[in-house]
Amino acid sequence: MNEKLLAALNDQFNFELLSGYYYLAMAAYCESENMRGMSHFLVEQAKEEYGHAMKFYGFINDMDGRVTMKAMTEPKNDYGSFLEVFEAALEHEKLVTSRIYNLVDLATEEKCYPAIQFLQWFVEEQVEEENNMKDIIFKLKGVQHHFHGLMMIDKELGAR
Ligand code: FEO
Repeated sequence: MNEKLLAALNDQFNFELLSGYYYLAMAAYCESENMRGMSHFLVEQAKEEYGHAMKFYGFINDMDGRVTMKAMTEPKNDYGSFLEVFEAALEHEKLVTSRIYNLVDLATEEKCYPAIQFLQWFVEEQVEEENNMKDIIFKLKGVQHHFHGLMMIDKELGAR
């Protein structure tokens, strides 16, 4: 497989790990604010990100590439509100989506059909990932800072 494409896939493997790390930081913030359901949801999200990373790990190895680990940047650990947490999550997912699209473009340029095929799963997954965050933002905006409404949302997210 083309070296440039392999390097880009390896970058995305690392970015998915970083995503998990970011979501764990968000979970820890929610936990510290006694929003256990939101924290649970974000821990599950982090696990999904590690699952995404392992898909890249498997694919790179299947294509005889070499997986390498990169340094991680420190995530944001404090937020002003729960709405801010999920707005940051949505922005992060939009960034992931653009990165996936760039990978598809690169794989297409390189005529790497296995990579194009592999990436299709992520194209679909990103629609769901962004929509999940949009739904939560919609609800959080609806209840604003009202305690009862926040507790209802927290309960719902705890059921993930
Ligand atoms: Fe792996 Fe949330 O994108």
